[in-house]
Amino acid sequence: MIALFVALLLVLAPGSGKVARASGAKGNRFLCTAVPTGTDFNCPVDTNSRVQNTSPQEEELRNTIIQLREIILQQKETIVSQQGTIKELNSKLVRCEADAKSRGNARRKDYSKNTMGDLPRDPAETVQQLGKTMQSLKDRLENLEQLHANTSSGPFPNELKDLLKHRLSDLEGQLLTRVAELEEEKSQLYNETAAHRQRTENTLKTLLDRITELEKSNSAFKSPEDFKVSLPLRTNYLYGRIKKSLPEMYAFTVCMWLKSSASPGIGTPFSYGVPGQANEIVLIEWGNNPIELLVNDKVAQLPLSVSDGRWHHICITWTTRDGFWEAYQDGERLGTGENLAPWHPIKPGGVIILGQEQDIVGGRFDATQAFVGELSHFNMWDRVLRPIDISAMANCSAYMPGNVVPWVDANVEVFGSATKAALEICEDRLFDS
Ligand SMILES: *[C@@H]1O[C@H](CO)[C@@H](O)[C@H](O)[C@H]1NC(C)=O
Ligand SMILES: *[C@@H]1O[C@H](CO)[C@@H](O)[C@H](O)[C@H]1NC(C)=O
Ligand SMILES: *[C@@H]1O[C@H](CO)[C@@H](O)[C@H](O)[C@H]1NC(C)=O
Repeated sequence: MIALFVALLLVLAPGSGKVARASGAKGNRFLCTAVPTGTDFNCPVDTNSRVQNTSPQEEELRNTIIQLREIILQQKETIVSQQGTIKELNSKLVRCEADAKSRGNARRKDYSKNTMGDLPRDPAETVQQLGKTMQSLKDRLENLEQLHANTSSGPFPNELKDLLKHRLSDLEGQLLTRVAELEEEKSQLYNETAAHRQRTENTLKTLLDRITELEKSNSAFKSPEDFKVSLPLRTNYLYGRIKKSLPEMYAFTVCMWLKSSASPGIGTPFSYGVPGQANEIVLIEWGNNPIELLVNDKVAQLPLSVSDGRWHHICITWTTRDGFWEAYQDGERLGTGENLAPWHPIKPGGVIILGQEQDIVGGRFDATQAFVGELSHFNMWDRVLRPIDISAMANCSAYMPGNVVPWVDANVEVFGSATKAALEICEDRLFDS
């Protein structure tokens, strides 16, 4: 912008401006007006006036004044455009500040002091000030013109010419200073904007870190497996979902701790549905029927009894070879059988739901088949566990996470008003009634 201004000053040479002279009353008063270059310069001239004797110096000075006026007009336009830029920057700053404030963090005080407090004074004010200065320069110039007109009737005095020249360079100097000041303010605004954004980002990051920390300390259990899922109501919308699916399997063991006093029947502690077979694996106690294990929609009745409102550890093993299964309760094997979906491979990629029976994969639950109670340590392996491993888990002398589905907080989602809560099953079940 300074460069532009200097370039404009460089064309400040005599001869290129045109002056239209209107002969006023008595012919000794002139109004100077800029007219487009190339305009026919055919002025009516009062022959009685001494104006026709205009000296070359006088003409030069007049042209200089015209040029300066043009420059001032140009300058005003530039200032207006600067004003736009500054306004835009300013509104961005204000927006940033409002955002930061609405986050209401602890560092807010500092922050607003360090930004808005240290900002150069209101740029809009500066521009307004600049506009006033330009107006006063213009006024002074008009005075000079007037003076010129008043005195041109006599021989053109050298002192006046010198005075005008002096004033003109004075004006140039003032303009340049103003422009430089404006540039400086603009640069400060840019710097402030960048610094402000940096501070906002830092504040945001700190906030985010704190929230993450809080979330961790709020939801993390003593260790990731020390929690239970509670399904307190018989509905078709309370359930838990295991985020992991199953691989194709030729055998499995599923174990869990559960507690229910629902009657008749505890409902469906878990179900695994795959596309095309909603009952790929289901454990269900429905109505007055015994607990049943479904594999590929084939049914085996299990000799388990857990609906006394106490915590029980149950495990079920199954292998595709002859469809052989075992049922354990509290570490004891209470029953075995075979021919349950023999030679069927468990299909992969389905959905494991805790507490509901699926009629389609992941949905269409039935309230009458819902599990009511609490579940913990739901683990699955892709092999048949040994009896000694199962009894060690049941008497809390060992804990083994499942190799295909381990019971970990991050792996279990709850829906409806189902909840996850801290539970150290091996501590708590002893005091349970
Ligand atoms: C020029 O003359 C007019 C009257 O002819 C007067 O009103 C005006 O004040 C004079 N201007 C200056 C700058 O002397
Ligand atoms: C703005 O930042 C630039 C680059 O960091 C620096 O050269 C300039 O002096 C700064 N301006 C102000 C007004 O602080
Ligand atoms: C727990 O079960 C394991 C495996 O059956 C057995 O070795 C251990 O003695 C049992 N511990 C208690 C305290 O019953």
